[in-house]
Amino acid sequence: MQAYRTITVEPNRDGFGAAITGPDLAAPLDAAIRSEILDAWARHAVLFFPEQRLDVATVEGFTADIGPFGVDPYVDPYVEPIDGHEHVIEVRRNAAETAPIFGSRWHSDWSFQQQPPSGTVLYGVDVPPVGGDTLFADGCRAYEALSPTMQDLLSELKAVHSATRAYGPSGLFSRDDESRSMRIVVSEKAEASEVHPVVRTHPLSGRKTLYVNHVYTLEIEGLHPKESRALLDFLFKHMTQAAFVYRHRWHANMLTMWDNRCVMHYADGGYDGHRRIMLRTTVAGERPR
Ligand code: SIN
Repeated sequence: MQAYRTITVEPNRDGFGAAITGPDLAAPLDAAIRSEILDAWARHAVLFFPEQRLDVATVEGFTADIGPFGVDPYVDPYVEPIDGHEHVIEVRRNAAETAPIFGSRWHSDWSFQQQPPSGTVLYGVDVPPVGGDTLFADGCRAYEALSPTMQDLLSELKAVHSATRAYGPSGLFSRDDESRSMRIVVSEKAEASEVHPVVRTHPLSGRKTLYVNHVYTLEIEGLHPKESRALLDFLFKHMTQAAFVYRHRWHANMLTMWDNRCVMHYADGGYDGHRRIMLRTTVAGERPR
């Protein structure tokens, strides 16, 4: 067990996800706390900090201290930020809303960018009394559980990622109904694509991880469409089996940060009739390798 001096780390039973107590995230992070948070993040991939009294500015400040922010001008091309806070979006669903839930299929944030964000920070402002969990899938353990032969096969492959199915002119959000309270922008820009390796190496932990996801990965390069579909379907089923998934229950004033390099996630429903409001920022990442 790793010893920490400035924070208390309580890992989940399988080590994927950990509760962090001790630091006050409303204050600027000093170097020792920041370094221990980054160490815990590299080990546990999903960190949650209960009982933090934050607002838009302090969530932004915490992200900048971990930072830098996701690459401009691509910070959040498809969701308008909060006025006066260009790096923060409000993930919001009103009690009467009927539009599809934002982020409700497995994905890794903005994997269609050339340098997708290393991390996402989400802060619970208004958390429903039931439902509204976020589920996280551990890409490292999923990779490690594959046979060496499958690992070798995948190591040669690259996949095409694009935002088109979500934010493109005929994507999911183009069919939004009037009840949507988030400011989502549908754009032809979403038809652009990027190619990333199917297996990437985490720059901090050195662990290999699967890097494909249901929403943004369109196909595997060089395979026939049916072969690509079959392999992606196998990987998605493998990655999301219960052994690799952590269901995260929110409480108000909880901040959670996850590592998009090795984690897929989705927002679950089950809170019809209740409001859910979260603040969301991203931390810059590197080109997957
Ligand atoms: C997201 O996918 O970024 C949002 C997750 C959530 O609302 O739980």
